[in-house]
Amino acid sequence: MDNMTFVLFGGTGDLAKRKIYPALYNLFIDKKMPEAFSIIALGRREQSSADFQQNVAKSLQTFSRRTVNDPATLEAFLQTIRFTVLDANQVEDYHKLRSLVESREQELNIPQNRMFYLSVAPEFFDVIALNIKDSGLGSTSGWKRLIIEKPFGHDLQSARHLNEQLSKAFDESEVYRIDHYLGKPMVQNLEILESSNPILKALWSNHHIANVQITASETVGVEERAGYYDNSGAIRDMVQNHLLQVLMMVSMRLPGRGDANEVRMKKKNVMQSLRPLQKEDIAKNVIRGQYAAGQMQGKPVPGYLDEPGVPAGSKNDTFIATRLWIDNYFWSDVPFYIRTGKRMKEKSTRIVIEFKEPLKGQNTTNDPNLLVIEINPNEGIFMQLNKKNPRNDSKLEPMRIHFHENGKDVPEAYENLIFDAVRGDSTFFAHWDEVELSWQYVQPILDAFEEDSVPLHQYPAGSNGPEASDQLLAEDGFKWWLDT
Ligand code: BG6
Repeated sequence: MDNMTFVLFGGTGDLAKRKIYPALYNLFIDKKMPEAFSIIALGRREQSSADFQQNVAKSLQTFSRRTVNDPATLEAFLQTIRFTVLDANQVEDYHKLRSLVESREQELNIPQNRMFYLSVAPEFFDVIALNIKDSGLGSTSGWKRLIIEKPFGHDLQSARHLNEQLSKAFDESEVYRIDHYLGKPMVQNLEILESSNPILKALWSNHHIANVQITASETVGVEERAGYYDNSGAIRDMVQNHLLQVLMMVSMRLPGRGDANEVRMKKKNVMQSLRPLQKEDIAKNVIRGQYAAGQMQGKPVPGYLDEPGVPAGSKNDTFIATRLWIDNYFWSDVPFYIRTGKRMKEKSTRIVIEFKEPLKGQNTTNDPNLLVIEINPNEGIFMQLNKKNPRNDSKLEPMRIHFHENGKDVPEAYENLIFDAVRGDSTFFAHWDEVELSWQYVQPILDAFEEDSVPLHQYPAGSNGPEASDQLLAEDGFKWWLDT
């Protein structure tokens, strides 16, 4: 792994404190950081590097996956960090930053390999990228890379515009777009599950699979984020990025273990095979919901419209369920269902693969075979098969074979992703083609919501979403599995 400098824009922000420093620290402990590296954190308010290091120490104590109990390791990590003030719009500040980066490179005798992590509001993405270029910070004798977080655009047009701007300063191969779902261990496992298990590989297509259900339900409501969320909704916040990425990961067919390029091509193929939604099909295939008042764990909670900061009469979607078709050789005629919502009964991100039941309709009491991949909060896999119950007249009943990953020592999504970016592996990042194709898929839905041509169903907080979402599957003879 190359020695390098990690420049963090938004170094005093919430994401940095909760996720990025803890990830870097845990990678450091695991010896998954380069031998010599420097971290330069940027923020708007002046403070000394020494004070800043103490703030990072506090964040680590609160948010690190591992307990911070070795003072020498902590100190060695903190010593890699420097803080400097930067106003994203001030060109001179980038020149000062450049001097600092260069002086640290000389001090540590490391090459000009520079990672720029933009943990900032999206309106700063292009400003910062262009200033990196104009100030010469991006003209290195080593490599340069850019990490950005979602949201990548607000719709197809703005995403394209942003990409054009970024590509003035960085080549596509240098851009690492984080989708934290792609960092989740079980999502990273999908490729391996399919490609290195002949049993599953043989079954992984429309010959044997009846439908695929991807759920990301949350118990939290809009929280303090109405300003962002009310302009975004579940469709932009979860579907366009996280859930379509999971869909690609589960349905791409790799001949063996793929490298970044192969994965990118296969994911792109999936997106190109997605059946586009015509205007008249949207209301039939997309269920839009918004939570009303209800009960969460026995306590009453307000509806979306009564949450702080939500505009009166907002028609924002806090729930989406949708049916998609991948019209390719492997998946034609297999419905994929995606569902996500806030204030749902339980926090659960999972994929359920329901297998075809050859004897369906022939007086059998078989339950279908299921393969369930639990992504969050539990990480695990289980299979549902059928067996006889010897205690009950040998009646047929389903049984479940479980595997659970022990959570404590599993690296977090941000550790996986930062580690990959540092070593230049873009397998688990969202590439531009996929992002553009995802926006293309979602755009007609955004337009329909804008025109209000899709019903907005209310669902009580603490439920499994609107009934219309159950109806969507019932139309095809299916149901959502594992709803409690
Ligand atoms: C974020 C969304 O990207 O993902 C949030 O902006 C959502 O609204 C979160 O709560 C869900 O992530 P996770 O990892 O808890 O499933």
